[in-house]
Amino acid sequence: MQPELSTFKTLWRLVPFAKKALPRIILGMVAAIGAHMFALSIPQFLQNLVNSLVAGGIDALIPAVVLILALGVAEALFVLLRRWLVLTPGTFVEADMRNALYAKLQDLPVAFHDRWPSGQLLSRAVRDLSMIRRWLSFGLVLLVANLLTLIVGLVILFSFNFWLGLIFFIASLPIVVIGFRFEKSFGEVARLSQDQSGDLATRVEQAVHGVRVLKAFGRGGFAADQFATDAKALLGTEIRKAKAVANIWLYLILLPEFALGLSLFAGVLLVADGQITVGTLVAFVATAMVLRWPTESLGFLLGFTLEAKSAVTRFFEVIDEPDLISDPEKPKTVADPRGLLEFKDVSFRYPDTAADQPDLISNFSLRLEPGQSVALIGLTGCGKTTLTALSTRLYEVTGGSVEIDGVDIRDMTRGELRTLIAMAFEDATLFSSSVRDNVLLGNPTQSEEDLKQALEIAQAQFVYDLPDGLDTKIGEEGLSLSGGQRQRLALARAVAAKPRILVLDDPLSALDVDTEAMVEDALRHVLTTTTALIVAHRPSTVMLADKVALMHEGKVVAFGTHQELLKTSDHYRYVISSLDAAEKAREVNL
Ligand SMILES: Nc1ncnc2c1ncn2[C@@H]1O[C@H](COP(=O)(O)OP(=O)(O)O)[C@@H](O)[C@H]1O
Ligand SMILES: [Mg+2]
Repeated sequence: MQPELSTFKTLWRLVPFAKKALPRIILGMVAAIGAHMFALSIPQFLQNLVNSLVAGGIDALIPAVVLILALGVAEALFVLLRRWLVLTPGTFVEADMRNALYAKLQDLPVAFHDRWPSGQLLSRAVRDLSMIRRWLSFGLVLLVANLLTLIVGLVILFSFNFWLGLIFFIASLPIVVIGFRFEKSFGEVARLSQDQSGDLATRVEQAVHGVRVLKAFGRGGFAADQFATDAKALLGTEIRKAKAVANIWLYLILLPEFALGLSLFAGVLLVADGQITVGTLVAFVATAMVLRWPTESLGFLLGFTLEAKSAVTRFFEVIDEPDLISDPEKPKTVADPRGLLEFKDVSFRYPDTAADQPDLISNFSLRLEPGQSVALIGLTGCGKTTLTALSTRLYEVTGGSVEIDGVDIRDMTRGELRTLIAMAFEDATLFSSSVRDNVLLGNPTQSEEDLKQALEIAQAQFVYDLPDGLDTKIGEEGLSLSGGQRQRLALARAVAAKPRILVLDDPLSALDVDTEAMVEDALRHVLTTTTALIVAHRPSTVMLADKVALMHEGKVVAFGTHQELLKTSDHYRYVISSLDAAEKAREVNL
């Protein structure tokens, strides 16, 4: 957690993103200030006009009226100019910031995404960034212009008459105190509101994602209640925000009126005493009236600024997140990749593991010769999936190393690593795109022939029977596929990337035994030069692999061919028979 920066320092961090937009924003400020200056100059002429009227001269009336009219028109034109100037630049800043956020989210390791709810990221990318855009275009411009106008206005008021100015100034002074108090209280609720809307987004995302489960278990009402509770909390916060703004607004309207009343009273006395002219008093009052909107708007603009501040803070919470898995400064390359994968004394624990827990993986050593296929088995929860994630650097080992052809995977760029090793996950994720795009995700330049072969190996020929064949849109917005079909596409995706090393995390679990055997066979015959680490859950799969590694309590406890291990290891026989039993139970259910 970073120490909290002041509002100014926080907002200053926008500068690098806002660089291109700043000239227009500053010009917008100048235009806004110009408009106010025209408004402020009108009372100056009013003063002379009233004085000459009082003196009985009517001749000055027409030119003075024309002049005041012209000033009014100039003010309106400058307001228009400001709007035109500031309307677009914020949009570019918003787009740049959104791209930066997206790039960062892609770059951050899986461990980050384990911790962060997706709704919080979504609300940052959407709500917070659009808030920042609006603040840059309107909030910032008006805040600066209005504050400056207030200062110039006060100087003018003092110039009319020192004592009148002083009375007005002192009577308005409490506004500053109220403003500071407001910043403290409002800043907290603004942050709370943004966090809560992120929570709400997470709820929606989960409910939509898990709609089948919710429906199947009849828990729609439960989810709706949870949503309603969160929505109510957000509503409460929004009301607190509105109350805070209403509160400060009360003072911002009341105090200037009060100050004006006081100075008017004193002004009349001064006129009666002959110390100032009627014209000066009229001009004083007219100037004070011009300052009314800049004063009144301060509450809203301060609130806006504080919301923008917490939006910026939330944005940088993600951007500042240290990227623990990054590319080395001097990356090594594997000159002639052969596909030797070696785990050397690897240990690993998840970042949030309790201190008294042992490492999930420790002293794990395994060597996969080029072209060899090794089945990894072990009881559920022993860390097989975690291990596959370590080999592709989705997580970083906490001890030991993973090496490909003798090069530590931390010493190569992630880009190079991805060309050497490809992975298929147990829960196959497809993107809403065509079959072709999904399969060629790992290497879009692959030829049609490679694509065909990959689909064949994965026994995914069913895609040719889809309505548009390889161009059928699948995934979230397209055609729904069965679990087994999805897995086969995910497998085809890994194969189509043509890596030296394939890591398959139980990619065949949703397939029936026959299809699985065909996939296995194809893998063995076609991919003779590809090293494969296959997490398996069926004895039949295990038998097809060259070697089997048995994992227990975080390390390899037995390594050899299936037959060897059956002979020599009690533990192996036990695990195989439990896999067998699980498999039988599954078949009964099928
Ligand atoms: N992202 C994670 N954060 C914390 N713990 C995790 C995470 N993923 C898995 N685990 C824990 O690590 C252990 C091993 O999980 P996993 O590698 O999936 O086992 P397997 O694939 O062998 O069934 C489990 O106890 C699981 O709860
Ligand atoms: Mg697993």
